[in-house]
Amino acid sequence: MYLPQELIRRKRDGYALSDEEIAFLVSGISSGRLVDSQVAALAMAIYFNDMSVQECSALTLAMRDSGEHLSWQEFSLPGPVVDKHSTGGLGDMVSLVLAPIIAACGGFVPMVSGRGLGHTGGTIDKLESIAGYNVTPSQSQFQHLVKEIGLAIVAPSSDIAPADKRLYAIRDISATVDSLALVCSSILSKKLSEGLSSLVMDIKVGSGALMPNRDLCEQLAHRMVSVASEAGCTTSAILTDMNQPLAPCCGNSLEVMEAMDYLTGHTQHSRLHQVVMALAQMLLVDSKLCDNAEQARVKILQVLESGEAAERFNRMVAALGGPRDLLEQGKSHFPKAPVIAPLLAEHAGYLNHLDCREIGMSVVALGGGRIHSDQTIDHRVGLSRWRQIGEYIHVDEPLVMIHASDQSGWQKAARRLRRAISIDADPIAVPPVVYQQIVS
Ligand code: URA
Repeated sequence: MYLPQELIRRKRDGYALSDEEIAFLVSGISSGRLVDSQVAALAMAIYFNDMSVQECSALTLAMRDSGEHLSWQEFSLPGPVVDKHSTGGLGDMVSLVLAPIIAACGGFVPMVSGRGLGHTGGTIDKLESIAGYNVTPSQSQFQHLVKEIGLAIVAPSSDIAPADKRLYAIRDISATVDSLALVCSSILSKKLSEGLSSLVMDIKVGSGALMPNRDLCEQLAHRMVSVASEAGCTTSAILTDMNQPLAPCCGNSLEVMEAMDYLTGHTQHSRLHQVVMALAQMLLVDSKLCDNAEQARVKILQVLESGEAAERFNRMVAALGGPRDLLEQGKSHFPKAPVIAPLLAEHAGYLNHLDCREIGMSVVALGGGRIHSDQTIDHRVGLSRWRQIGEYIHVDEPLVMIHASDQSGWQKAARRLRRAISIDADPIAVPPVVYQQIVS
């Protein structure tokens, strides 16, 4: 038996905690034996002193083991159980297209996703813009869908990593969210509960990222790859740019429509495509569904062109209570926002900088995200047809379309967006989409 305050003091003073000490603290977080002030103090001690890979592994596994794990043994799946996670950004609907692609290539994807966090969108909020889609099936239904269709994207149940749930809520109000050790163990405790054999991580870098700084993102990627791989889950990561929305839209139903366009081949936005291809290739190779990246590339393009990936998405939506013909119905399924109008450039020049955090917060203010956790979302609102960084913009040309629930919301978003957009006389070097790959 340990005294929590003594362990917190040790961490505060820069010492490493043992696996047993970490397990004791995590069980105290789950049971309530550690009070909120102790949990916050522990989080702050970790924030300032970081943790070794060994400590991060112990924290991850203890938080994973605070709840249930999925086991796939009884399902005798004919392929690997795999998943992808992103640290979150704008216009990032990669999960909606990557999971069906991987399923069509022979993988099984039990994707437990989150809701919007701060300025970033969340896959579950996006899926809820599809009328009838049930994000909380029973665990047995979830696993059967993964077996039958190859994928299911759902919200976390309260049985998954409850220690992380409490720790995260306390981090959120104690300025300790952006700690390398805490982000790593929080994300991996949940992902490792899915019983995966392989995982790919998309770590966003830039003005719209959870951690904007590239060096920190690189450290996070290495840490996550080490911790997950040590836990038996082959993991690779890519660092991708979040200095502008990944696809040219942000908002819940707008992003689902973009994903449908991508899967059906109507449009294939280049930045989105590059990230999807990089992640899908890594996952297919890591999980041994393909021998190398070139074979994976051919297979991915084949399931996109044949419509197999789109078909998997349609089947998942229908099986979870959405319309049976979502892809055929297309955009007519989604109600439009009452006010849709362009924001026009006030002067000409190169679009050089977008403050993605501010852009994300303008979507939240339009009603597309939450300021309080119990808020309902307006799935219709958002931003579309974003011009890209590096483009020359003429005066009075549209920069972006604003989808608002009323005129006053439109005006407020327009004022906020003007502050987030920089147009200059000289062009800058356009950042690449994929900065770096970190393989296991
Ligand atoms: N997402 C999580 O689940 N946890 C974090 O700490 C950060 C992002």
